[in-house]
Amino acid sequence: MTEANKEEFPAEEMPAIRKEMSRRQFLSYTLGGTGAFLMTLPLVVNLRFAVDPLLQERAGSEWVKVVEADKITETPQSFSFQKRVVDGWYESEPKMEAWIARDENGEIFALSPICKHLGCTVNWNGSPNHPNEYYCPCHGAHYTKEGKALAIAPEPLDEYEVMVDNGFVYLGNLKPNERV
Ligand code: FES
Repeated sequence: MTEANKEEFPAEEMPAIRKEMSRRQFLSYTLGGTGAFLMTLPLVVNLRFAVDPLLQERAGSEWVKVVEADKITETPQSFSFQKRVVDGWYESEPKMEAWIARDENGEIFALSPICKHLGCTVNWNGSPNHPNEYYCPCHGAHYTKEGKALAIAPEPLDEYEVMVDNGFVYLGNLKPNERV
């Protein structure tokens, strides 16, 4: 307390004034703190929602049972299936397709039908000018049986992860073609 205060207020009033001041300070700190907390709470919650999917451990391959292994021949055949796709908080089950065949060693492999030029769908033996190849009707890209790009497209067809279990072919994630 300064000398000026002592002169301004009688001695018996000083403790009451000091109590009043500290209550006011207490209220202003409490209300200020609560206000700041309430203002930052939505930010913290939104940040958690935005970042959480990135922190989730990526699930490994989800295998989808597609066809009996003994139906697969050396000639590629097209099969449709549905696969659960998780993208952050969004889950879907899009219809997908794969060209599945055996190589010269009898090993089963599966290719994406999506052309690597601009994304049209390729067909096996789709053009009489390119027998025993995948052909894209949009701009004429064509590919070997194992997906190697022969014209137009800059890259080979993507490949599915393949697992054969108990007589069935299972397909996993798409990956860059490792066969060519
Ligand atoms: S999208 Fe297939 S050739 Fe262009």
